[in-house]
Amino acid sequence: MNPTADLDCRYRPTWHYAAERNWLNDPNGLVYSNGVYHLFYQHNPHGDVWGNMSWGHATSADLLTWDEQPVAIPCDEQEAIYSGSAVVDTHNTSGFGVGGVPPLVAIYTSAYAPDSLLAGRQAQSLAYSTDDGATWIKYAGNPVLDRASSDFRDPKVFWYDGDAGSYWVMAAVEALTHEVVLYKSADLKTWEYLSTFGPANATDGVWECPDLFELPVDGDAGNTRWVLVVNLSPGGVAGGSGGQYFIGTFDGVTFHSETTVTEGEQTGGSRMADYGWLDWGRDYYAAVSFSNAPDGRRLMIAWMNNWQYAASTPSEGWRSAMSLVREVRLESRGGRPVLIQEAVDPFAASGTGLFTLGRQELESGITWLPAEASGDVLRIEAEFEPAGSGKTGLVLRAGSGDAAGLERTVLAYDSATGELSLDRTASGDVGFHEDFPSVERVAVPLIDGRLRLRVFLDRCSVEVFAQDGLATITDQVFPSDSSTAVGLLAEGDGGTVVGLTVTG
Ligand code: FRU
Repeated sequence: MNPTADLDCRYRPTWHYAAERNWLNDPNGLVYSNGVYHLFYQHNPHGDVWGNMSWGHATSADLLTWDEQPVAIPCDEQEAIYSGSAVVDTHNTSGFGVGGVPPLVAIYTSAYAPDSLLAGRQAQSLAYSTDDGATWIKYAGNPVLDRASSDFRDPKVFWYDGDAGSYWVMAAVEALTHEVVLYKSADLKTWEYLSTFGPANATDGVWECPDLFELPVDGDAGNTRWVLVVNLSPGGVAGGSGGQYFIGTFDGVTFHSETTVTEGEQTGGSRMADYGWLDWGRDYYAAVSFSNAPDGRRLMIAWMNNWQYAASTPSEGWRSAMSLVREVRLESRGGRPVLIQEAVDPFAASGTGLFTLGRQELESGITWLPAEASGDVLRIEAEFEPAGSGKTGLVLRAGSGDAAGLERTVLAYDSATGELSLDRTASGDVGFHEDFPSVERVAVPLIDGRLRLRVFLDRCSVEVFAQDGLATITDQVFPSDSSTAVGLLAEGDGGTVVGLTVTG
């Protein structure tokens, strides 16, 4: 659907899903069924700030272009529909299927309204669809899992098939006590407690939106690990909302972390920097993965925002977008599995090459690329050999000319600290909230003396994938329309750009 004229579309992204109208937060119910990727999401159907929480719905065949669908599960006077997941109930364990067609089952958090019977509680409920996600019916036996808790939410359900048996597993949070609680079920309707994980690593905020999945290490199906994702807000590595992850094992009952950092194991710097983070920027939250994705792919989407300032970002009539979809894998680095992330690339199929640069020593200062390399919807791929000292990187979304004080977002590798930083303090409109201007940092190892960067710009966002997805930084930016220039940055000794391509 095209945005209509009365909406403020200055920053509306091209390749990131945003609701046509009104507010959006967490991705929910990510599920693939019969050739269609379903993206449900926290949505206010009646306003452009949080409220009336319901599940909005969009569908896609390619994870790049999304068609908005009618609201799937609306709130009512009894409950708001908080975050959760969806599964294809292939064997009709729930009995919701008709005519031999597997139902889709959504498992969501009922946040009970003040004057409802369960006022103040959060419990897990079901809704099901027998028409492949088009319409949804709430289960009459809701809630299906109630711990009499005020902050028990965000169920992520998957089918476990291993040594311990075959059954549904739910990972949900007790948000305030920093716990992921695991339950099992044969039919999605009755749930039996398995175990609790946490508190562990980052706990300076509520734990929300967990996910638990198995991945092969280096593509070897005989050597797998489980990844437990725990989003938290505030207390993320860059400030405010963020997503951490643990790598370990799951025996069908208990998740055992191999990456919990204890006092003696800290490698230097802050403890926060030693934890596993899905993203080191400010705007990658509530990340969860698709259920039933084809070819064993583990595909994740996050809400590209931060609870610190989400209600104030400068757009009227619609607010907030999702991240690009990312495929995540485990690869061994230094004898340990680490998470590698790769964006589903909007430019891979349909991009137009705009500009290419070969090997070149960098002059100190900013070398502006020619006009054909500029834009606000771009992919920039660059490889650098940073000098022994100084900074090397890219100047993005810059105003034309080269005077100091211009709008710009600066992505720079500092040879002295080994850190990659993304500075949005002068990125454009930063004054709408005191927490918005920020500089994000992540330590990035050079590989054979080189730094590889892949950057996606989409009107109001910068997503950085460093060293082929070893570290990512996602930030929103709100520059002027005319701030589209791209430059090469060298401070101090400079360095060498090995190659650069810009695709639009
Ligand atoms: C995370 C979150 C979830 C909750 C939902 C409510 O952003 O706070 O814990 O289910 O948003 O909209």
